[in-house]
Amino acid sequence: MTKIISEEELSRQRAFSAKLREANAHFAAEYGRERLAHTETYGCQQNENDTERIRGMLKEAGFKFTEDAEKADVVIYNTCAVRENAEQKVFGRLGILKNIKERRRNMIIGICGCMVQQEHITEKIKAVHDHVDLIFGTHALYKLPELLYNAMHEKGVVVDITQSDGAIAEDIPVLRETPWKAWVSVMYGCNNFCSYCIVPYVRGRERSRKSADILNEIKELVKNGCTEISLLGQNVNSYGKDLDEGIDFADLIRMVNDIDGVERIRFMTSHPKDLSDKLITAMKECDKVCKQLHLPVQAGSNRILKEMNRKYTREEYLEKIEKIKREIPGIALSTDIIVGFPTETNEDFEDTLDILRRVEYDNIFSFIYSRREGTPAAKLDFVLTDEEIHKNFNRLLEVQNEISKRKNEAYVGRTERILVDGASKTDKTMLSGRTDSSKIVNFKGDESLTGKYVDVKITEARTWSLNGELI
Ligand code: 5AD
Ligand code: SF4
Repeated sequence: MTKIISEEELSRQRAFSAKLREANAHFAAEYGRERLAHTETYGCQQNENDTERIRGMLKEAGFKFTEDAEKADVVIYNTCAVRENAEQKVFGRLGILKNIKERRRNMIIGICGCMVQQEHITEKIKAVHDHVDLIFGTHALYKLPELLYNAMHEKGVVVDITQSDGAIAEDIPVLRETPWKAWVSVMYGCNNFCSYCIVPYVRGRERSRKSADILNEIKELVKNGCTEISLLGQNVNSYGKDLDEGIDFADLIRMVNDIDGVERIRFMTSHPKDLSDKLITAMKECDKVCKQLHLPVQAGSNRILKEMNRKYTREEYLEKIEKIKREIPGIALSTDIIVGFPTETNEDFEDTLDILRRVEYDNIFSFIYSRREGTPAAKLDFVLTDEEIHKNFNRLLEVQNEISKRKNEAYVGRTERILVDGASKTDKTMLSGRTDSSKIVNFKGDESLTGKYVDVKITEARTWSLNGELI
């Protein structure tokens, strides 16, 4: 059964939000400027979505926003714990903020998200970075108004990293940057305990949102001009298992498909072991579901998959891929790969390359294994040296780049329907958008097309993107 944070608790938070609003109005009257907040997000789309909530709550509490941390009155870092380098970046940033805060004593520095849900990290921040005012974990997100109010009025650091009973907070204000497309969380947490992964420890057990709440959120988004919906969860394929509604993820996407005004439906992430025939059929039959699937394989060797506790073999994975390709011809596939998992040999790695060649993914997200304290894999030993692991990683990219380029070349000459995301990040004179299959396409056009669908003829293929002409 899904537990929901009570209305009483939410209204307590709204009261703190009102107090902050009042304090911010006083501040503006006294100093002739508004209080500014700055947020930074590390990690996955779930975190991006959480930051949209954080910004929604900050806006409701009367803050305006700045891109510049140095100008901010409140800085919030929403952190990631999946790999060590993301944590090191945050510690680096905290070092820089220390200098800034010496000049601006009233600045409030908050750290939230997966990284601080680990006790040893929170202890380290408290011990080494005493300029941090607020630390809150993934379960305490909805309490931001209260925690921030306390941090602004109390001496010392305010900490809330309690693991909750998994209750979901509905009706939190959300501030989305792109009104035409939105991430919508359908479930939180993960039960899979892949042996390398910290997520189940920092985000807790799987819990699904009620379908009515999800559908209402989407209808509201559509009313405000949103046409592309990406359903989000650590393992969307097990959506509904904990509900008493008798529906699963395939049923849910059919319901979303029936909403007038929705044009595109995407979803991630799918765990291969839970990708059902029923879901493949739903993907095939729902005209709004994009021809795209992200299906993390992680490794190609059966021994490594077992060590990773992935619960499928390479043969089972490849069989599912074959089935999807057969049922949905032309589907774009992507995956996640970890290189250098403990005990991995060069032979195991060859099996990963073999998977790449057989599946021919459109693109991959590849990572060098990062040891996470408290996970079972942290106790395993390495066979390969760092140098060998890096060499394999580079080889993986080489093999994939060639496949990606080839896959993209097949688009040249086609006309694709693109949802325009705005000016291209790399070349401001170009617009950038995505095909149904999620390929990035750059083309000349007016920025007023942002958020609209246009037809573009593909003229050139690159490894990571396509170029085209508006027609
Ligand atoms: N080291 C490296 N990559 C990891 N991932 C998860 N945990 C680790 C780790 N300890 C990768 C997986 C996952 C993606 C989100 O991050 O590939 O699918
Ligand atoms: Fe981590 Fe595995 Fe859960 Fe994905 S499915 S979040 S890799 S434990």
